[in-house]
Amino acid sequence: MSKFTLQVNGQSRTVDVAPDTPLLWVLRDHLDLVGTKFGCGIGQCGACTVHLDGEPARACLMPVSAVTAAKITTIEGLAEEASHLHPVQEAWCELDVAQCGYCQAGQIMSAAALLKRNPNPSDDDIDSAMSGNLCRCATYYRIRQAIKHAADLATKKEAVS
Ligand code: FES
Ligand code: FES
Repeated sequence: MSKFTLQVNGQSRTVDVAPDTPLLWVLRDHLDLVGTKFGCGIGQCGACTVHLDGEPARACLMPVSAVTAAKITTIEGLAEEASHLHPVQEAWCELDVAQCGYCQAGQIMSAAALLKRNPNPSDDDIDSAMSGNLCRCATYYRIRQAIKHAADLATKKEAVS
């Protein structure tokens, strides 16, 4: 076991775990951040998607020892203010995207990263960016619509700020 200090959702958090412990286990079992889900554990489903320095990453594949320098954001820390949802979360609620919900935190994290690098994505951009996030309930159509709606919401927010 070793001590690792991580920057998670703007806070410094220290855990005492084996260096090869996946970030996903650290988040869920040691930091009580259970919004990030375990799906496949082998980098294939996207349920465990978090942001490392703003880029989407699979927490099940990241040993904790490799992420000590990164700014880690989970679904719990996606909204900049606790009192307001992130535009992607807002759009997800308005369009009632989730079915069982299991994959949705990962979908939202991938969608938010997409909109950050491409505020006005085409259908092809969306399909390509979201192709690694699987949904066994097949909510793909609503996900695509919600990403477009989130892009509109973000644009409106910028116009009034
Ligand atoms: S749980 Fe990480 S990609 Fe499936
Ligand atoms: S909403 Fe059920 S797995 Fe995606």
